[in-house]
Amino acid sequence: MNTSVRIAPGLVLKNPVLSASGTFAYGEEFSRLFDLGLLGGIVTKGLSLNPKEGNPLPRVYETPCGLINAIGLENIGADAFISGKLPELRSFGTPVIVNFFGSSEEDYALLASRLDVNGIAAIEMNVSCPNVKQGGLEFGRDPEVLFRLTGAVRARTGKPLIVKLTPMVSDIGAMAQAARAGGADAITCANTIPAMAIDEHTWRPVLGNVTGGLSGPAIKPVALKLVWEVSKKVDIPIIASGGACTWNDCVQFLLAGASAVEIGSASLRDPLCFTDIITGIEHYLESRGLDSVTDLIGKLETP
Ligand SMILES: Cc1cc2nc3c(=O)[nH]c(=O)nc-3n(C[C@H](O)[C@H](O)[C@H](O)COP(=O)(O)O)c2cc1C
Repeated sequence: MNTSVRIAPGLVLKNPVLSASGTFAYGEEFSRLFDLGLLGGIVTKGLSLNPKEGNPLPRVYETPCGLINAIGLENIGADAFISGKLPELRSFGTPVIVNFFGSSEEDYALLASRLDVNGIAAIEMNVSCPNVKQGGLEFGRDPEVLFRLTGAVRARTGKPLIVKLTPMVSDIGAMAQAARAGGADAITCANTIPAMAIDEHTWRPVLGNVTGGLSGPAIKPVALKLVWEVSKKVDIPIIASGGACTWNDCVQFLLAGASAVEIGSASLRDPLCFTDIITGIEHYLESRGLDSVTDLIGKLETP
């Protein structure tokens, strides 16, 4: 049985299951629990040009079926990652996909060129960040801005470029088309949904940053619909992100049009869920008499 999937030119994963950015850090903690070589791909915590401190505590809050986080993109910076974390991470033989972000087009482009090194299989561009030079509106909310940003980054890297969209748009298909036109090789769909929590006893917000991003099972049906919408608008591979916890969720995302699925919040609750999910997908293919996981991609039968 063939579980491999192609998510960009020259980038084939041995199975469609990846870690998600920010819930896997740089892989060190998880590598003590299971063989990271089993994963289809590893997506790192989002990197910036320089180290970033992040938001005041508390930074996470669990909801009945999800998680609100306001980490504030804390990270060690690109150079420290390349010298201190990448050598071990690449030793597992699983493609390492580096998530990155900036606060201006120049920032993103410069960082993309810094990340154009051996051992990084692809870069995933987080566009849910404020464009400081244009009044703070997120890059991923305006198709023109996203097209330009993607083009500027494309020009500075030879790596496969994955653009990770924000769900906070009225037409996600148009955003995917803009990224595609700018030179994206694949789309990750999608990031967290803005949310907040309030403590009725103190009358204060729970999170130090007041608001954060909702992830986990609560957002899966939303992500499923977004993936399906994007798959109707672009012909490049889609990587699903949003609430996947089980093999069943992953199969649903594949049917909706995704070529691979990132597992984020679920792995905070159960760090070993990756292996259950990969085995579950294999058993499912076997039970349906399918030879390849690609037989599922985009095969949703709509009325
Ligand atoms: C604690 C935490 C940190 C995150 N950090 C990042 C990040 O640095 N960059 C990014 O693009 N997404 C980040 N995300 C979003 C996840 O990668 C993922 O897109 C989102 O959580 C939805 O997937 P899930 O429901 O499987 O967690 C973060 C999510 C969480 C929960």
